[in-house]
Amino acid sequence: MGTSAVTVVKILAMLILLQSALFCCSGANFNGSCIKIEREALVKFKASLAIDNDCCRWERVICENITGHVVKLDLSRASFQGKVSLHLGNLSSLQYLDLSANNELAIDSLHFASSLKYLNMEGVLLDKCDNWLQSINMLPSLLELFLSNCQLSITGHVSHVNLTSLEVLYLRGNNFNSTIPSWLFNVPNLQHLYLSYSSFRGSLSTEICNLNSLAFLDLSYNSLEGNIPKTLNKLCNLSELHLESNKFSGEISGPFGNSSSCIQNSLQYLYLLNNSFSGSLPNNLGQFKCLKFLLLSHNSFWGPIPVSIGQLYNLEILDFSQNSLHGKVSELHLLKIRGLSELIMSGNSLVFDIDLKWVPPFQLSSIDLSSCKLGPWFPQWLKTQKCIAYLLMSNASISDSIPDWFENISSNIIGLDLSYNQIFGTLPKLRKLNTSYDAYYRFILLKSNMFEGSLTHFHSDASILDISSNLLRGQIPQKTSKIMPRLRLLSLSSNNLNGTIPASLCRIESLDILHLSKNLLPGRIPSCWGNLQRLTVIDLSSNILNGRVPMSLGSQQFLISQHLQNNNLQGQIPISLRNLEYLETLDLSMNAFNGFMPSWIGESLSSLKVLSVHSNKFQGEIPQQLCYLASLRILNLANNMMTGTIPTCFGNFTAIAMPENKGLWDYYPRVPFEEDGYSENVLVYVKGIEREYTSTLRFLYSIDLSGNKFAGNIPKELMTLSGLQNLNLSENKLGGHIPWNIGKLKSLESLDLSKNDLFGSIPSSISNLNFLSYMNLSFNHLSGRIPFGNQLQTLDDKSIYIGNNGLRGFPLNNCSGDELPRGAEKVGNTRKHDFEMLWFYSGLGMGFVAGFVGVCSILYFKDSWRYACFQLVDRVYNKLW
Ligand SMILES: *[C@@H]1O[C@H](CO)[C@@H](O)[C@H](O)[C@H]1NC(C)=O
Ligand SMILES: *[C@@H]1O[C@H](CO)[C@@H](O)[C@H](O)[C@H]1NC(C)=O
Ligand SMILES: *[C@@H]1O[C@H](CO)[C@@H](O)[C@H](O)[C@H]1NC(C)=O
Ligand SMILES: *[C@@H]1O[C@H](CO)[C@@H](O)[C@H](O)[C@H]1NC(C)=O
Ligand SMILES: *[C@@H]1O[C@H](CO)[C@@H](O)[C@H](O)[C@H]1NC(C)=O
Ligand SMILES: *[C@@H]1O[C@H](CO)[C@@H](O)[C@H](O)[C@H]1NC(C)=O
Ligand SMILES: *[C@@H]1O[C@H](CO)[C@@H](O)[C@H](O)[C@H]1NC(C)=O
Ligand SMILES: *[C@@H]1O[C@H](CO)[C@@H](O)[C@H](O)[C@H]1NC(C)=O
Ligand SMILES: *[C@@H]1O[C@H](CO)[C@@H](O)[C@H](O)[C@H]1NC(C)=O
Ligand SMILES: *[C@@H]1O[C@H](CO)[C@@H](O)[C@H](O)[C@H]1NC(C)=O
Repeated sequence: MGTSAVTVVKILAMLILLQSALFCCSGANFNGSCIKIEREALVKFKASLAIDNDCCRWERVICENITGHVVKLDLSRASFQGKVSLHLGNLSSLQYLDLSANNELAIDSLHFASSLKYLNMEGVLLDKCDNWLQSINMLPSLLELFLSNCQLSITGHVSHVNLTSLEVLYLRGNNFNSTIPSWLFNVPNLQHLYLSYSSFRGSLSTEICNLNSLAFLDLSYNSLEGNIPKTLNKLCNLSELHLESNKFSGEISGPFGNSSSCIQNSLQYLYLLNNSFSGSLPNNLGQFKCLKFLLLSHNSFWGPIPVSIGQLYNLEILDFSQNSLHGKVSELHLLKIRGLSELIMSGNSLVFDIDLKWVPPFQLSSIDLSSCKLGPWFPQWLKTQKCIAYLLMSNASISDSIPDWFENISSNIIGLDLSYNQIFGTLPKLRKLNTSYDAYYRFILLKSNMFEGSLTHFHSDASILDISSNLLRGQIPQKTSKIMPRLRLLSLSSNNLNGTIPASLCRIESLDILHLSKNLLPGRIPSCWGNLQRLTVIDLSSNILNGRVPMSLGSQQFLISQHLQNNNLQGQIPISLRNLEYLETLDLSMNAFNGFMPSWIGESLSSLKVLSVHSNKFQGEIPQQLCYLASLRILNLANNMMTGTIPTCFGNFTAIAMPENKGLWDYYPRVPFEEDGYSENVLVYVKGIEREYTSTLRFLYSIDLSGNKFAGNIPKELMTLSGLQNLNLSENKLGGHIPWNIGKLKSLESLDLSKNDLFGSIPSSISNLNFLSYMNLSFNHLSGRIPFGNQLQTLDDKSIYIGNNGLRGFPLNNCSGDELPRGAEKVGNTRKHDFEMLWFYSGLGMGFVAGFVGVCSILYFKDSWRYACFQLVDRVYNKLW
């Protein structure tokens, strides 16, 4: 009783606050005061409340006109808090109670009058309310029950279900972690059942067919598995079925393949996406004449698409993407679908074989046929489609030029992706985006084709424009800023552009990513970057730029990645770069920079992860301050003229010393589109080969000081960098012994100490380096017996030891009685392989798909890797999509 009073007081306090009375009790025979016992149930502390005795006048309380009974309490979003028991049993005529969206209210037991018809407690905490089901089961008049997001964890059990009136039941967003309880299948008149996001597992019972009034069934986002029961086909009133994002498997021909099932006369919305369904698509699908949405993507359906689909004249969305469908798609498959607006078939092995003269019965708004075989000709039937908003046809085997009529259908296109085809000729002409789409961002992706000619005549009001990897020539037009004032990403890399970088680019204030690498851009970098305050990535690498780096290139507060490598730039590193506190990658390698390595790099660029300045003309010593860079993972000072010793404080590179802190390196600055972005990339020499690292970059820890004039000892502190995978100190003047504790570099895969003045014996701890697969100690003054151990025995190339004084043992000579332990080589290789796989797999969850695909094609891997790689792309894509 006490607790119920508390509730009531809270309710009343709320009502008082709301003040304004609602005159709702004005029926002819009704004399103006509410039923006493009901008022008492609402007012336990009458005396303390200065409030109108007529509770029917209170806002949010509605009484029956004739009898004066409270019939409705609507206390939605009233911001109640605290933990209470709800005893409203004395409101004997209560029919309607809405307590939803009181997210701080926790209720531990429920009691209502049996008159209740509508109960909404969505968002109210009921996790302590163990017998909620028993209480609800006392309400035979209940029509609609809303218990979503109540943190219910058990469904409870009742011997007899007497919810004979219940038509609508919401139990979404709870955490039941159980099979769907059988009482649910005994609510005889249920029409709408929502059980999504509730951690249901196990299979779906055949008893589902008891619910023969069901019109709407939502079981999505659970962990249900196994086949879906055939008996679903007895739900003759079912119009919307959501089974997406579960683990269902097996064929769907049970419920959907039977020509005498009655579900086919009612079903309008079928969501089966993101499960593990397999088998072929039933021919009978064409009989589901009411179907509007048919969403089967991200499963393992195989075989051809049944021609009968073309009979679904009510269909609006057809999504078969990301399955294993193959075979031909002809106009027959789409024959009568006159209302179709989205056609999504990407990620299958379908071959489109459509008559060039075909005029489709529909007007599509979204088309995604990526990776279907559409070519060699550009699909002619698109000519008739005037409302296309998204046209995605990447990797679709098109070897044609863009037809002239394309311009006529372009004015509604928000997203265009024709990447990875062999499209030739000039760039497409695109009309300005129809103004009614102003709120959207237009993206235009034409990368990896054979577009040629100049950019001069290209007009596009795109926000994302990627024309990389084509055959474009000439200049980047001066007027780019006028034509594309909203650009956020501009990628023109890997073309043959040969004009100077126009200063007008600096007027595109929205620019986020500028990627102009791998062209023939000559001359100086313009000195106008101050405007581009949003810039996060600038990549001007691999051009023929010369002169100094303008000071204004350091004024972008949020710059994350700056690539100027492989040009003819000179001068010192401009001091303006010290403002870039978020800079993660600075790549100035392969230029003619000179001067000293500034100490402010360590003091100011505190986010730096990659510092690559190799192949320049830097002199002087490594500043101690470099050791402040706790996030540094890749340091490449190779091929300069630097002197002095390797600082002992190199042990302070925390990110390399504590590889368990690898964590997620979300290194992809990207515009808020999944369609395109910029994959961070760095060239690194590892194991004697130069590789471009993109997505796997985040797993790489490397120090390369080779080709300088460093002298002194290799500091033993360097050996604390237990995450280091690549250490290259070759071609210096380093003396002394190889540190005895080199075995502590337990992640080391590649070690090059060649061409120094190292002497003494090779420390035996080197044989602890289980992942070492490349080593070069040649041309030093090393002597004594070469240690042996598992991994070391696999390094059987003699040349890695030549040019030393007196080394002996395997592999130089095997006559001293040192025998290769049996099976050693095998063990070593297996481990190496496992590790590399682990190394490779371990961070894929957060990968950026485009970048990752990049790795698949750029990096050299063994075939098995390549295979695994593409499988993963698929999986990662599944996750992201
Ligand atoms: C009118 O009010 C009196 C007392 O104020 C009460 O006894 C009576 O039941 C009320 N009439 C109706 C129709 O509710
Ligand atoms: C009471 O009567 C008024 C006026 O006749 C009507 O608008 C209102 O809907 C009725 N209320 C109930 C709860 O029946
Ligand atoms: C309901 O009313 C009766 C009679 O006034 C009272 O004894 C009882 O405590 C009330 N129950 C609740 C839960 O308020
Ligand atoms: C509802 O069913 C339960 C059995 O679970 C029974 O005890 C109860 O009396 C029934 N209540 C009503 C109001 O029919
Ligand atoms: C779900 O239930 C299973 C078996 O009862 C139990 O092992 C598992 O820990 C539960 N999971 C959660 C998230 O409660
Ligand atoms: C099916 O729906 C129709 C129309 O909405 C209705 O008349 C009929 O009673 C429903 N059938 C069942 C079994 O609920
Ligand atoms: C696919 O289904 C799984 C399992 O329910 C779910 O965890 C995942 O979020 C779904 N994926 C998407 C993109 O909805
Ligand atoms: C098709 O459904 C009908 C009625 O539900 C059933 O009697 C028949 O056995 C089913 N046929 C097949 C092949 O499943
Ligand atoms: C750029 O290339 C074109 C030929 O493609 C040539 O005619 C032109 O002179 C070149 N311009 C510059 C600045 O090198
Ligand atoms: C390196 O770390 C040690 C121990 O934390 C500290 O005393 C030293 O000052 C650091 N040196 C530099 C150059 O950061």
